Amino acid sequence: MKLKKSCIPTHIAIIMDGNGRWAKKRGLVRHLGHKAGVDAVKRTINSCMKLGIKFCTFFAFSTENWKRCKDEVDGIFDLVRTHLNDSIEKMIEHKIKINTIGNLQPFPQDLKEAIEQAKEKTKSFDRLTVTFALNYGGRDDLARAFSKLASQGKTEISPQDISCNLDTFMLPDPDLVVRTSGEMRLSNFMLFQMAYSELYFPKTYWPDFNEKHLIKAILSYQKRERRFGGIK
Ligand code: IPE
Ligand code: IPE
Ligand code: MG
Repeated sequence: MKLKKSCIPTHIAIIMDGNGRWAKKRGLVRHLGHKAGVDAVKRTINSCMKLGIKFCTFFAFSTENWKRCKDEVDGIFDLVRTHLNDSIEKMIEHKIKINTIGNLQPFPQDLKEAIEQAKEKTKSFDRLTVTFALNYGGRDDLARAFSKLASQGKTEISPQDISCNLDTFMLPDPDLVVRTSGEMRLSNFMLFQMAYSELYFPKTYWPDFNEKHLIKAILSYQKRERRFGGIK
């Protein structure tokens, strides 16, 4: 089956799950699963460019992931830092915009700086926007949006007001959400934004995810009839 070029999702959001199980299956420490996960992120960015996807969002660290041991958390931050530093030139070359959602405040200073630099250097690009969700929680995003609205003295709040004050204000809602590893839950990802997203749950562990899996996900998406509450 071939992809219909006219019906490529504008925004794909990915809940990258299964790094730990991928490592365990191979008798490796969890960190090596996360490390292999970074390669899958790079592959996926390349595939998104090739397929003409405009927005790709990766759930990299949730507000709940602080429950993990410090070594694992620090290891994930190291990978984010290294990935940003290593790939920035390539991002610039390919005109990819780097963006983040989530509350960066609790992150180590050098990581915050690496993130800010990557965003600053790529802010004028729009061929593909790659967003990393870092210390991101859908509930936290909503709570922060409501706090902003309250601080502006708003008492009558519309869905549009909420949307404009979420971290994702500059992104369209995801058309397709992929969660790898066979788990079928949202784990506090973009709760408000995913109201009408199509969901796809491949069994593949994230480090094994490749272009074939992405194409399969899009083919599944292209078979869906999106009605948004209406009748076709
Ligand atoms: C996803 O893989 C990566 C993050 C949550 C950072 P996991 O680390 O959750 O892998 P499993 O679910 O234990 O296999
Ligand atoms: C969701 O995966 C968060 C990320 C992918 C960053 P988790 O592995 O943390 O989710 P649960 O704990 O299985 O719900
Ligand atoms: Mg997991």
